[in-house]
Amino acid sequence: MVELAPSILSADFARLGAQAQAVIEGGATVLHLDVMDGHFVPHITIGPPVVASLRKAVNVPLDCHLMIERPDEFIRAFAEAGADWISVHQEACVHLDRTLRLIASHGCKPGVVINPATPVHCLDEVLPLVHHVLVMSVNPGFGGQTFVRSSLKKIEMLSRLRQSRELDFRIEVDGGIHQDTVADVVRAGAQILVAGSGVFEHDTPRETARQLLACARA
Ligand code: DX5
Ligand code: ZN
Repeated sequence: MVELAPSILSADFARLGAQAQAVIEGGATVLHLDVMDGHFVPHITIGPPVVASLRKAVNVPLDCHLMIERPDEFIRAFAEAGADWISVHQEACVHLDRTLRLIASHGCKPGVVINPATPVHCLDEVLPLVHHVLVMSVNPGFGGQTFVRSSLKKIEMLSRLRQSRELDFRIEVDGGIHQDTVADVVRAGAQILVAGSGVFEHDTPRETARQLLACARA
């Protein structure tokens, strides 16, 4: 079953708890939290205190997408704040195997993320370690960008690899997911759909989440 993981990056941060509740009422089953450090990507967004507040406000898994350098130094803090899933960028991790094991050692589900320019085969060695692979379908750093279509073949490739190697990681896609792109992403094999502007842009997150999920499942 396809799941929707709204990215709070496009939410109104002054009404975060209410907006998170609204998307859950609209059918979202995961909340995607974009953590940016101003180094790996240009912006600075949220850190563990926001994760801790959301942890008290909702009871769906909190999916922390770390767009940060030196993630090993922050994994404990995110785990203690209540993150359920923690994903790190292949491009940011010199010792990716160690970082994924560190995430698991803190009781969180480890995920690995690849940028549009990073090929799937870079993940060959770590696929057995991960709970999810997050395929970026935009270059990370901003909400509201255009979907990069070459990500579709990467999703298909991951689906095939999972089958041929008898693995069970989940495939998540992030960036540019709207009603006009969601069908292609689902057809390619994505199971967890991250959408920021596609859910929050009209200030009717409950209804927009419901519509997007309906499109995805249709
Ligand atoms: C981009 C973030 C995304 C972003 C997606 O760096 O990882 O999660 O919020 O935004 P949309 O859905 O607007 O492309
Ligand atoms: Zn993200």
